[in-house]
Amino acid sequence: MTSQAAGATASGAPLRVLVARAVFPQHIERVSEYFTVDYHDSDDPLSAPQLRERLADKHGALITGSERIDATLLAGASELRAIASISVGYNHVDLPACSSHRVVVTNTPDVLTETTADLGWALMMAAARRLSESERWLRAGHWRRWSLDQMLGHDVHGSTIGIFGMGRIGQAIARRAQGFSMRVIYHNRSRLAPEIENECAARYVSRRELLETADHLVLVVPYSPSVHHMIGAAELALMKRSATITNIARGGLIDEVALCDALRRGVIAAAGLDVFEGEPKILPGLLELPNVALTPHIGSASYATRDAMAHLAIDNLVAALSGQVPPCLLNPEALAF
Ligand code: DGY
Repeated sequence: MTSQAAGATASGAPLRVLVARAVFPQHIERVSEYFTVDYHDSDDPLSAPQLRERLADKHGALITGSERIDATLLAGASELRAIASISVGYNHVDLPACSSHRVVVTNTPDVLTETTADLGWALMMAAARRLSESERWLRAGHWRRWSLDQMLGHDVHGSTIGIFGMGRIGQAIARRAQGFSMRVIYHNRSRLAPEIENECAARYVSRRELLETADHLVLVVPYSPSVHHMIGAAELALMKRSATITNIARGGLIDEVALCDALRRGVIAAAGLDVFEGEPKILPGLLELPNVALTPHIGSASYATRDAMAHLAIDNLVAALSGQVPPCLLNPEALAF
């Protein structure tokens, strides 16, 4: 596709897009084939006023989960037609506001499913088998001898995994559980079709049964205000004392103060967290606890997957600004106006 095919201004010049964060060289090269690019070549996100200013004359933008797109910003971006986010989550974008401004919004599902499921699995194992804690202890020079009760954790194989949110990533986690002879239970807004349940060997249970029965609970629920702090003190109290909780979705799902308290008092055994409510700031209590494995929002962070995500976002941007329906359109309403 040429830049002409990706649309042009009235004067025939290529459309203008903002690339709001540093991407790989091959991505910026590709975007530049189609558009006039304003590149914020940095890992530091633009502030809201900076983003507003840079978007004021743009037709499109390639963003990440760190750039918040809201009504105020849209009001100052009269030419904006497409926002392509390099993320599967889109809670940072006000979809109804975009639709009413006729701004098409896209995300990058599918390409990150398996990589993110891998990380969920790694964190669950790290929490259950105290990997981070063991390594910190070893590096600190505490290891003097082997002993029968050293760093005892909880088995993953043969246990019950509870998956909260059974979308694509939840299902990929469930499929992995079969290799560990685990029982798979799940809770979701709606029950899966029988053939998918069979393929995942997963049993649908109530929210309460999930919390009470899971040995290892994994959260893969898309974030929205309606699920804010869906795991708090009351939910943690329902879990087994030997249970672990892993969150690879969004930090806001868990009340972190309640989680810290539960981990400190042994209400549950351990946690594995890749996402945090105030990230990149971490609640100090979490940093102090030994029984929590922490990673800096790296669920999809493999070379191949981050490359695929950026390319898919570019596909979306090019299609949207060419007047085509982009492959990962989130708000068809935007096209209906
Ligand atoms: C996603 O794709 O939503 C990841 O969490 C990165 O933002």
